[in-house]
Amino acid sequence: MAREFSTVGVVGLGTMGAGIVEVFARNGIDVVAVEISEPALERGRATLKGSTDRAVAKGKLAEADRDALHERVHFAVGLDALHSVDLVIEAVPEHLDLKQRIFAELDRVCRPETILATNTSSLSVTEISVATSRPNQVIGIHFFNPAPVMKLVEVVRTVVTAPEVVADVEALCARLGKVDVTINDRAGFIANALLFGYLNHAVSMFESHYATREDIDAAMKLGCGLPMGPLALMDLIGLDTAYEILDTMYRRGGRDRRHAPVPLLKQMVTAGLLGRKSGRGFYTYERPGSPVVVPDEATPLATESALADGARAIAKVGVVGSGTMATGIIEVFAKAGYEVVSVTRGMEKSAKVCEAVKTSLNKGVVRGKLTEADRDAALGRISWSATLDHLADVDLVVEAVVEELSVKKALFASLDEICKPGVVLATTTSSLPVIDVAMATQRPADVVGLHFFNPAPVMPLVEVVRTIRTSPEATATARAVCAALGKTGVVCGDRSGFIVNALLFPYLNDAVKMLEASYSTADDIDHAMKLGCGYPMGPFELLDVVGLDVSLAIQRELYLELREPGFAPAPLLEHLVTAGYLGRKTRRGFRDHSHR
Ligand SMILES: NC(=O)c1ccc[n+]([C@@H]2O[C@H](COP(=O)([O-])OP(=O)(O)OC[C@H]3O[C@@H](n4cnc5c(N)ncnc54)[C@H](O)[C@@H]3O)[C@@H](O)[C@H]2O)c1
Repeated sequence: MAREFSTVGVVGLGTMGAGIVEVFARNGIDVVAVEISEPALERGRATLKGSTDRAVAKGKLAEADRDALHERVHFAVGLDALHSVDLVIEAVPEHLDLKQRIFAELDRVCRPETILATNTSSLSVTEISVATSRPNQVIGIHFFNPAPVMKLVEVVRTVVTAPEVVADVEALCARLGKVDVTINDRAGFIANALLFGYLNHAVSMFESHYATREDIDAAMKLGCGLPMGPLALMDLIGLDTAYEILDTMYRRGGRDRRHAPVPLLKQMVTAGLLGRKSGRGFYTYERPGSPVVVPDEATPLATESALADGARAIAKVGVVGSGTMATGIIEVFAKAGYEVVSVTRGMEKSAKVCEAVKTSLNKGVVRGKLTEADRDAALGRISWSATLDHLADVDLVVEAVVEELSVKKALFASLDEICKPGVVLATTTSSLPVIDVAMATQRPADVVGLHFFNPAPVMPLVEVVRTIRTSPEATATARAVCAALGKTGVVCGDRSGFIVNALLFPYLNDAVKMLEASYSTADDIDHAMKLGCGYPMGPFELLDVVGLDVSLAIQRELYLELREPGFAPAPLLEHLVTAGYLGRKTRRGFRDHSHR
């Protein structure tokens, strides 16, 4: 029989604690909510009220249920109020000595059978547990932010946690409507171990002016379907908490440099820029605690005239190539009203591309996204050619040929001879340095990267890559074109992986390493990222879709360019590729897809 939890205590009512109180009270459990001082208690009370009021306003909670919820919560200053609860969850700042002190005190105050739990993200539950005389009743219950929304709970057992305590806490999670994964005590558990290297890397991109905060966040939201960008997420987590988590992970997790907090983080924390909770972090908020971002001095002007500032007029576009990307890009430009010249290596190929574009446009008609007249007009704007000479009078060329530097360089050298002056020359490469391609021409200032995502007609993001030789006008033109296509163009420097792949693939590679180390299963890791972080797919699902060979190639490029030891491809990934398990396309990758 699972233990009954009728009253629980929550210590610390900050970002996490207030949310955890709400989770319990919503599920009919009485809560004793404890803070260090009256003002802190008031803040916690206000956070709970604000959150439940929002839930009522959104129609997610009835008024009567909200009132009943509040009646279940008893607020108090000091740990003594916890003398008769069945379980305590501690959610104070991420400092080992503070947590150890609180656990020693809880051990003294609470009944002998009370379970003591920590919500730590990165500290050792084992080290916290030995501050008590009951380490077998100490466990990690790691909720995700915001606790009332995120479905996942990581249950962390130490080597001495009693099995019945683990079972009781698992049953409690189910009662709270949460999905739990039970794991051993390792820095960052599943989700944070995979998340924080990525977050820190995003901060370093911002710190080095590789891209703006808006562009980094938009890239990950639109390129990967994440619920929020990494810098907005840092603000939500709290930069002080994020700093402590990184610092602990660095020290506990084998001194991986990717977890060494980026210096900017420390400076922001020292300056009191803690994120949402202080009203200012990477972004500025309406007021402390508010989720509403307000413009500040770094906010870009989003008006069309600002986007078009310095941009050249583009009416006619050449697209070179006959693969998936070229086909999608031709469709995107033609639908947006541009005159398009498609150039392939022969009329047979042109006929195939033409067929593919027609099929895709017809699908749009069937789905009601396009009228027949629009389809015919789009097709009427495309001319098909097998010679580059037809690009003599276009305003923009988008190259989407095979991903081989020698081929692309030769093509750009030819374009340089054929195209009129002032044309913007764009490559869709996803892994080659754009500057190499640019230097094959006599006009590197006019060369940019335009990295579309697959399928181009669907994906809303384009990475605009500027090299050290790209002119501001060429960049402005590329941005304006993206806007005219209805896409979001994000500008970044010319480094391997641009924004999205540089942030995405090391995380996927880390997931493979975690699996290889037998810390958790592919199912639990996928669960953790989907239910804990709101990712649309778990890392193993995504790897199987993208293709393990493609993922390995990208990861190798990143490793070669940045020489970051943590980017070395996971041996398991290499072995699966060698074995021919490439993902869905070969019906087997991390999972067996032969029956689906
Ligand atoms: N922020 C996140 O996204 C997140 C997610 C999961 C887990 N966590 C973990 O949750 C814990 C709390 O983090 P947070 O972000 O909520 O921190 P926070 O700074 O927002 O809140 C901490 C609260 O603890 C209170 N406190 C400090 N000392 C206390 C004491 N002696 N007794 C009672 N209350 C005390 C503070 O007044 C503050 O309100 C940390 O261990 C953190 O790693 C954080």
